[in-house]
Amino acid sequence: MEIPDRTQVGIVGAGPAGLLLSHLLARQGIASVVLEARSRAYVEQRIRAGVLEDGTRQILERVGVAERLRREGLRHGGIAIALNGALHRVDFPALTGGHTITVYGQQEVVKDLIAARLASGGTVAFEAEAVSLQEVDSPRPAIVYRAGGEVRRLACDFVAGCDGFHGICREAVPAGALTVFARDYPLAWLGILARTRPAHQELIYSPSPEGFALFSMRSPTLARNYLQVAPDDRLENWPDERIWRELQRRVGRAATVEPGPILERGITQMRSFVVEPMQYGRLFLAGDAAHIVPATGAKGLNLAVADVVVLARALGRYYRDGSADLLATYSETCLRHVWQGEHFAWWMTVLMHTVDDPFATRLRQAQLHQVTSHPTLSRYLAEHYVGMHTSGLYVEWVP
Ligand code: APR
Ligand code: PHB
Repeated sequence: MEIPDRTQVGIVGAGPAGLLLSHLLARQGIASVVLEARSRAYVEQRIRAGVLEDGTRQILERVGVAERLRREGLRHGGIAIALNGALHRVDFPALTGGHTITVYGQQEVVKDLIAARLASGGTVAFEAEAVSLQEVDSPRPAIVYRAGGEVRRLACDFVAGCDGFHGICREAVPAGALTVFARDYPLAWLGILARTRPAHQELIYSPSPEGFALFSMRSPTLARNYLQVAPDDRLENWPDERIWRELQRRVGRAATVEPGPILERGITQMRSFVVEPMQYGRLFLAGDAAHIVPATGAKGLNLAVADVVVLARALGRYYRDGSADLLATYSETCLRHVWQGEHFAWWMTVLMHTVDDPFATRLRQAQLHQVTSHPTLSRYLAEHYVGMHTSGLYVEWVP
């Protein structure tokens, strides 16, 4: 693919954030180039999150990239919490005035967005790794990148750092200009994708005394399940037979887990991380480049979508009428939904996981009782889970 030497918005990273931003800009007539370090096959196969908030689904529908999502996405009207051998349902439409969630793998969203960009002549350059940013505090920033053994320079009006937690864009901000807020939890998840019937028709969150387990899915024949493990645990300690036995033990009589061939497995740390501000000069950070949530609340992908909708709107205004007002408040606007998501993810993480602390355990049990029996806390869970405080805010504006 021919990569031009200059563009309006240079985007680093072809995850959901970078790809959706490029698509939203194109719909407003704004040119962009997406630079992605990995291959197309790699980003299309990489297994990540899988829950779309109602607002995220609606945004993808409104901008014309949801044809397959409509067909293959699994619409859920709630989740189940397994407690003492029984399933307690949290009914989303009843508690939120009609909202639902959609289970659809993040890599499927990525495939759909890549196809849409390429079909309309967009530039998404794979195996093009950004190595540094230049002059982001000037009107002429640039991205230096390596592709096909050559080091090249992409001049732009603006740089969007959508390069995930391990990317390089965040480093372009002088240390004194950024504040980091972070928390590492003494928890990790062992996740598996298995060819078998999911444990239940909706997700089951199972906070058992032996540790948390989550039962999700990708299709009626693909289960996606997780086990709480220690942060230093290793896959070698978990032969298939132990994984299946532990999943069944942690959900108890509330569901029957059917073992099947395990197609993919990995261990993920639980971490919260936010940088403030999310902008510096003409550099704007979006998605995991600016913030990480522990996976328990299923917020990561949705926060990334909310960020780029805010950014696309701000850039649209700038190119349409020369006003930088929405760009100036980008970080402030995003941090409102980011901290709502951070709080929910932290709360779900504390609520669901077993820790070696008797006082914390009793508090957790008291709160689980409330969530499963009292409308105030179940409504809090439902509203945040469907995204009434994050991407749902931005559905009204999509180009
Ligand atoms: N140059 C080019 N691309 C890079 C570079 C670099 N130097 N560094 C990282 N990348 C690419 C990665 O290979 C990846 O494809 O940036 C992309 C970032 O994508 P994601 O990590 O998916 O981040 P984001 O688009 O913000 O999406 C957030 O990802 O981790 C999940 O839970 C998270 O679901 C959420 C979503
Ligand atoms: C998933 O299906 O991968 C999933 C679902 C819910 C979560 C986290 C991950 O909270």
